[in-house]
Amino acid sequence: MLAERAKQHQIGTAITDVEYTPEEVATWNAVLAQLRELLPRHACREYLRCLSLFDFRPGKVPQLEEMNAVLQCSTGWTVRPVAGLMHPRHFLAGLAFKHFHSTQYMRHPSKPNYTPEPDVVHELIGHVPLLADPAYSQLVQAIGAASLGADDKTIWHLTKVYWYTVEFGVVREGGGIKAFGAGILSSYGELEHMASGAAALEPLDPFRPLPKMSYKDGYQSRYFVLDSFEAGASLLHSYAASLALPESLRGDASQA
Ligand SMILES: [Fe+2]
Repeated sequence: MLAERAKQHQIGTAITDVEYTPEEVATWNAVLAQLRELLPRHACREYLRCLSLFDFRPGKVPQLEEMNAVLQCSTGWTVRPVAGLMHPRHFLAGLAFKHFHSTQYMRHPSKPNYTPEPDVVHELIGHVPLLADPAYSQLVQAIGAASLGADDKTIWHLTKVYWYTVEFGVVREGGGIKAFGAGILSSYGELEHMASGAAALEPLDPFRPLPKMSYKDGYQSRYFVLDSFEAGASLLHSYAASLALPESLRGDASQA
């Protein structure tokens, strides 16, 4: 039913609230309680500031319309419902226009700490808060802008850039590193793994090939580090500007 509703949703129209079952609300409560313990210690300062703008509390799974009310007043992002995983080209294109596609279904109650696919907990706790931060917003939008008109090889590279920043990025803060990637922020195990220092750290360089994306055992073997969101946004803007349009989209310069 959620997938059907998402398919029919049109830009600019209200998103119908989802009625979560008591079991699903209990799953939300369980994950929220666990993450609230670790996030103040390991999430970046921008995330913690933005988190306070949202009314995340036990007993009620937040609705996408509530998220949009906050985002519209801060950075102008819109969260849109999506039926499931999208083609990367379409997902990335949405980012260029400050549209973030979000699932609404809840992970299975038998495994509150695990979801094989993005679910509403991952989207709300992991992705939504930072979209209210201006510098982070520019960073994400730069990835989307780079995807417009890009060839398939570049789309694949940008998917990795997205993966190693928006999903699993870390940022320097106070002599250490803090999490800003949604895959870390929404996972108790990944947060503990990052904090343990077991993973390798490398500066992000979008101009060079990035390693294969892996999700073995749910934990990353290395994280890519940004000096700040401003520095990351500047780097990604430079990368986007460096991309030549593919032959098929170029105008005929001789006629100009
Ligand atoms: Fe995600």
